[in-house]
Amino acid sequence: MKAIGKIDQLRSELKYHRQQQKSIGFVPTMGALHQGHLDLISKAREQNDILVCSIFVNPVQFNNEEDLNNYPRTLVEDLEKLEKAGCDYVFTPSVPEMYPEPVSENYDFGDLEKVMEGKFRPGHFNGVAVVVRKLLEITEPERAYFGEKDYQQLQIIRKLVQIAGLDVEIKPVEISREVDGLARSSRNARLKPREREAAPAIFRIISQAREKLQQFESPADMRNWGLKEMQKESLLEPEYFEIVDMETLAPIGSWDETSRCILCVAVFIGKVRLIDNIILFS
Ligand code: PAJ
Repeated sequence: MKAIGKIDQLRSELKYHRQQQKSIGFVPTMGALHQGHLDLISKAREQNDILVCSIFVNPVQFNNEEDLNNYPRTLVEDLEKLEKAGCDYVFTPSVPEMYPEPVSENYDFGDLEKVMEGKFRPGHFNGVAVVVRKLLEITEPERAYFGEKDYQQLQIIRKLVQIAGLDVEIKPVEISREVDGLARSSRNARLKPREREAAPAIFRIISQAREKLQQFESPADMRNWGLKEMQKESLLEPEYFEIVDMETLAPIGSWDETSRCILCVAVFIGKVRLIDNIILFS
């Protein structure tokens, strides 16, 4: 495995493989790698000749400086994991390498960015789009892999590919969970022991919501129930609990408004903000 920090060097290495008719799979990450990332990586490993991963904590997608400063950084362990997983290239650019000039692009994702993460983290998806586009233009992969844990991000990336006319297949990968149901996340490492104990309640409540689906007359009923259940857990502070159409992410007012529906939540536990989701029907 080669670790490369410079854009030009990565481009020229990948150009060679492309000339050899090799397919390139790409997995962008911000590091602090866990099994969720490794699931994307193993899928990409199976489906491509050359596997490229990136580790870059992208400052322009953080709307909260404390979150950026506290973001876990574990490069040595990450490189070991990537090597073991059969990664060919890991791209680890510096901030000035990625952003020699201040960012000026402004994407319009329409309604996709007006809800949930887009609403509560202003500028976040613009920052994600800026970096993902740059990374896709540098690596020019056949396929790029994104986790369904960040379901709204996945929809934004699909839209970005359409807007920018990028020639890449976006491959979604299922949510990876701890045995107690908690969705794996780099931020879980920041939970204090009591907070970590409380965290599985997020998945328990959204799973129960799906099981009890028939009993809720409307999405609003489910939402009220879910928010109450979360408030019963002393350490959970829900930020949103949204029942939305899987394509447009528009919140739905009645169950027959869509044939594909997903429940998405963001919850604070102490200072750590976690997101999760579950498909209600599709
Ligand atoms: P990061 O949070 O490191 O996640 C990298 C990829 O791993 C994303 O596609 C994310 O959805 C996926 N992932 C994380 N946890 C997962 C889980 N438990 N199950 C399945 N997939 C999971 O998402 C980002 O980084 C950044 O926004 C990035 C796309 C790299 C742009 O900076």
